Amino acid sequence: MNHWIAPSILSADFSRLGEEIRNVLAAGADIIHFDVMDNHYVPNLTIGPLVLESLRKAGIECIMDVHLMVKPVDRLIGDFIDAGADIISVHPESTKHLHRTLGLIRQGGKQPGIVFNPATPLEALREVTGLVDLVLIMSVNPGFGGQSFIESSLRKLAGARAILDEAESDARLEIDGGIKATNIAAAARAGADTFVAGSAIFNTQDYATTIAEMREQLKLVDRDGSV
Ligand code: DX5
Ligand code: ZN
Repeated sequence: MNHWIAPSILSADFSRLGEEIRNVLAAGADIIHFDVMDNHYVPNLTIGPLVLESLRKAGIECIMDVHLMVKPVDRLIGDFIDAGADIISVHPESTKHLHRTLGLIRQGGKQPGIVFNPATPLEALREVTGLVDLVLIMSVNPGFGGQSFIESSLRKLAGARAILDEAESDARLEIDGGIKATNIAAAARAGADTFVAGSAIFNTQDYATTIAEMREQLKLVDRDGSV
């Protein structure tokens, strides 16, 4: 199983953002998760396309997994495409026409993703399995780092995995919120292959040790054949 660890820069030191990203990639991260919040769709405010563009200009070439928590979302999609996003994920609640929004991302040559909040049913996923390259299950309510993992997300992950398998989709299945070395294996067993972790990585002294601990846990899942 090709597991990806995706540090969320929400918990990074923003005064040294480029350096933090280089450090976490050198420590073994696979991709970078870039949280965009607007103080409207979610009660917090973070960073936008200019910051992504600066990181690209500074030579950061990793896969950028942009999680948009903004409403309305369509107008910003072109900006993130131009800025250098690779994956762009949207919440169904942030757009009137989800099908069109996912199409905008695809037409821009990027990988579309759909995000489900803890109380949002998976029903819409059946309609868009052919349109998405990533399904993101929120295991906290979006808006802040450092919250506790909501256990019912494991059932949600398994449900999403079943829908993707039934549709023969090879979209990635990502989990976001409260992930750490002690619960990453449970998320993998439930079907996740991409793991966002913000505070669990950036709030530790040694990113490489933390990521290695997570990977050890994932290896155990591979070994016991539960995935
Ligand atoms: C929450 C964000 C997450 C957040 C995760 O709204 O979407 O990506 O940074 O942070 P942790 O891993 O600390 O829960
Ligand atoms: Zn996120």
